Amino acid sequence: MRLFVAILLSEEMKAALTDTQNAMFDRGVRGSFSPEENLHLTLAFIGDYPDAQPVLDALSTVRFTPFEIALDGVGRFGELWWAGLRDSAPLTAVARRVRRALAEGGIPFDRKRFSPHITLIRRASRDAAGIRVAPAGMRVRAISLMRSDRGKNGMRYTELGQVEAEQEGETAP
Ligand code: 2AM
Repeated sequence: MRLFVAILLSEEMKAALTDTQNAMFDRGVRGSFSPEENLHLTLAFIGDYPDAQPVLDALSTVRFTPFEIALDGVGRFGELWWAGLRDSAPLTAVARRVRRALAEGGIPFDRKRFSPHITLIRRASRDAAGIRVAPAGMRVRAISLMRSDRGKNGMRYTELGQVEAEQEGETAP
């Protein structure tokens, strides 16, 4: 199984992101656009791992309270274009806690520095610079363990489990 840990996005965030994809398309950008249902924010990429349960056990130790995220501009890694996230200390902290929990659980993951982004298009045919993304935001109340499968029509993502935020004011044990 190919696994990763992600934040799933609200309908409002996904609508803002598909508007940006449509603006790219209207500008003549072609390539492999992420389908709306696949849009997500990855916190840690595990890759091939045989069993979800030890990963869920490790993630269950991650504590966080609900926090806000917001879209902030468009950027690229080569031909891959993404929407960025406004700088957020709680987002960085939750990614760090997820990665620490995986490490302590002996679960391997990609150690590349956390660089929060939501992939909009891969193999873009041309530059999408100057295209805007609406500053939509959402409250993050859960993080999800995801499985990725290569289907006939591209990648399919399935949620295998969630860790929910604690209520504000609740103290960690
Ligand atoms: P990407 O969109 O920038 O490719 C599932 O593949 C998710 O894990 C995607 O969000 C992907 O980011 C991310 N990811 C992070 N590191 C990865 C890696 N080494 N290989 C594949 N996907 C990775």
